[in-house]
Amino acid sequence: MNNYLSNNELLDIKSKCDEYFIDLRRSIFNIYKQNEDIFKILFHKQIKLHHSLLTKSDIDILLKCNIVFINNQYIQSYHRINIFNKFIFLTDFVSNKMNRSFPYIDEGIIQYKHFDKNIVSKLKDKSKINAWDTSTGSANPLIFIYDNFLKFNKNFKIYGTDINYRALIYGKINLLLNNITSNTELILSNIDENLNKNLKFDYIWSNPPFALSPKSDMLHSYGGKFGYEKTILFLEKIKERLSEDGIAQILTYSLGNINSIQIKRIIRKIYNSKFYNIKIEILNEKLWRFNEKKIFKNPMPIENIIIRANDEYYNLEKIKSDDWLRYIKFLKQNNFTHLYYVLITVEKNKNK
Ligand SMILES: C[S@@+](CC[C@H](N)C(=O)[O-])C[C@H]1O[C@@H](n2cnc3c(N)ncnc32)[C@H](O)[C@@H]1O
Repeated sequence: MNNYLSNNELLDIKSKCDEYFIDLRRSIFNIYKQNEDIFKILFHKQIKLHHSLLTKSDIDILLKCNIVFINNQYIQSYHRINIFNKFIFLTDFVSNKMNRSFPYIDEGIIQYKHFDKNIVSKLKDKSKINAWDTSTGSANPLIFIYDNFLKFNKNFKIYGTDINYRALIYGKINLLLNNITSNTELILSNIDENLNKNLKFDYIWSNPPFALSPKSDMLHSYGGKFGYEKTILFLEKIKERLSEDGIAQILTYSLGNINSIQIKRIIRKIYNSKFYNIKIEILNEKLWRFNEKKIFKNPMPIENIIIRANDEYYNLEKIKSDDWLRYIKFLKQNNFTHLYYVLITVEKNKNK
């Protein structure tokens, strides 16, 4: 049984969401509240469940909206579903299809938690806030940004761009599923190429692809062979697009150790400290998930990054082993021992 929906089939879910979003939301939350384990088995682990474990009305609506399929009395989900507070997010499961959309939500939640008072005070009196989520994937965290803005200024527009068409279809489904029908626009674009040339933004959130991965076809995460190449392009565009007193938050990763991280040098090259206030926060060690079986505990030694390249989605086929050996040597010489999650806040300082 093919358990991967085509883009056209996904578009069909979008129109169903338009019609049935209240029932669909109710059923997804029902399953979650009744038994979180069952929810996880179905929507995180992608394991088949006997139909008797769910109610008939929940199954009916899930089937009608093409969320699950049923085979010999067993139900299986087409989508990964994440729930955070009152929000529901649908994405693809991890698979080796090159256009899979980004499957995790931990990065979006970081936006929700780090949207602080300083940002609110900068934005709350604006007659209209223009915001940009530069690599929105399945509209996460655009939906969190929307919810944050609603609390202090209802006059806003958030643009979400992404290069992955499939992720944006999921984005549109997620907007409907969370009852967001205005103030947002999702645009298929290579960084800002398809955004109006004159648009500047008061708030920018960016979570560029940051995996070091030899496989350039992994759209959801490919950050360049060494992981930074794409981030640099995004950082340059953010600089061009930030309004006179705008503020940007960029969530990326950095190789390094606690005293010295590589991203600091990159930031200093792009943003002149005379004109920008820069804050760099190390949030956590990045926990790489190779697949369900291999989860490495923090702290993560460099060797594990390289092992990651042997994973079924990140194989070394196309990369000469010499390149990787040189890379390991470079990392060791620089005492880089970890990968960190890093949140960079860039504030344009109009008085300087
Ligand atoms: C780390 S994911 C973040 C996804 C989403 N914000 C989330 O937290 O789930 C990076 C996203 O960047 C997108 N992307 C990669 N290259 C891009 C490009 N050149 N222009 C726009 N988006 C790009 C990928 O499709 C992916 O959705």
